Amino acid sequence: MTPTPIILDCDPGHDDAIAILLALASPEVELVGVTTVSGNQTLDKTTGNALRVLELAGRGDIPVYAGADAPIVRARDVAAHVHGESGLDGPDLPQPQHAAQSQHAVEYLATQFTRSDKPVLVATGPLTNVGLLFATHPGARPDRIILMGGAIGEGNRTPAAEFNIWADPEAAQRVFQEGLDTTMVGLDVTHGALIKDEHTERMRAAGRVGKVVAELMDFYARFHKARYPDLDGSPMHDPVCVAHLIDPTLMDVRDAAIEVDCTTGPSRGRTNVDWRNREHFGAPNAKVGVSIDGDRFAELVVDRISSLPASA
Ligand code: BDR
Ligand code: CA
Repeated sequence: MTPTPIILDCDPGHDDAIAILLALASPEVELVGVTTVSGNQTLDKTTGNALRVLELAGRGDIPVYAGADAPIVRARDVAAHVHGESGLDGPDLPQPQHAAQSQHAVEYLATQFTRSDKPVLVATGPLTNVGLLFATHPGARPDRIILMGGAIGEGNRTPAAEFNIWADPEAAQRVFQEGLDTTMVGLDVTHGALIKDEHTERMRAAGRVGKVVAELMDFYARFHKARYPDLDGSPMHDPVCVAHLIDPTLMDVRDAAIEVDCTTGPSRGRTNVDWRNREHFGAPNAKVGVSIDGDRFAELVVDRISSLPASA
């Protein structure tokens, strides 16, 4: 099996960190580079966190490129209430032995997406870097994007909007309008992709990386238990994108036309999803995740994280 090369554009972030580790633990994909964006925390913190997570897994050789430190139009608004002041509160993470690359993330993405063998873009933060790439490099496009963001139903940052899209709606709208093979992994599926206490305990018992992931989950679960007492676990939003590449049978998708609300009112950042050919909506511009096998997803995460070398 030839692994699918991927670039992760992310804002670690607890679930971004687990997405990185899931990719590293999975022979179906090859993580060729990580680009970072401001989102869950400021760019300096998300970049440092990406470097620490790679170091934890013994993969400090994978290059990290820092990108945008604020959304294209809006003011920056981080998610410290979910991810803490560091963006990865909970465990003690190793100090990275490598620094981020000097090239800007958008320039790195431009080089990667003008190659003939383009990696798949997995985007798990606000879409600022990707929107900037599309605005500034007309010839550089990925063939395929899998993004975590949006919701058909209720949002999480506001009743209307999911955090990544709310943070930079203009960038998200640009991405959906680009006419690429785009898959939206929204809250409708990620709220069915739960890591429960029993999963956390199995990872805690599985060596050094598993213990760190369990400590990440301990912190991350506090917010979700308080905000979502109806959920029997914490949503693993970002890892669903990687899991979808590893095993496409986990998540069902449906073609839809998506338009992002770029107003400033209470619906800011809402992803309006239409699959009924309503007037005012164009042809489908994305595949939207509509359901997931949560049990198989959780088993995949636990098994793969537990397989990471104890000595890493
Ligand atoms: C998304 O927002 C962030 O807090 C998470 O990392 C995830 O990418 C979920 O709404
Ligand atoms: Ca994220």
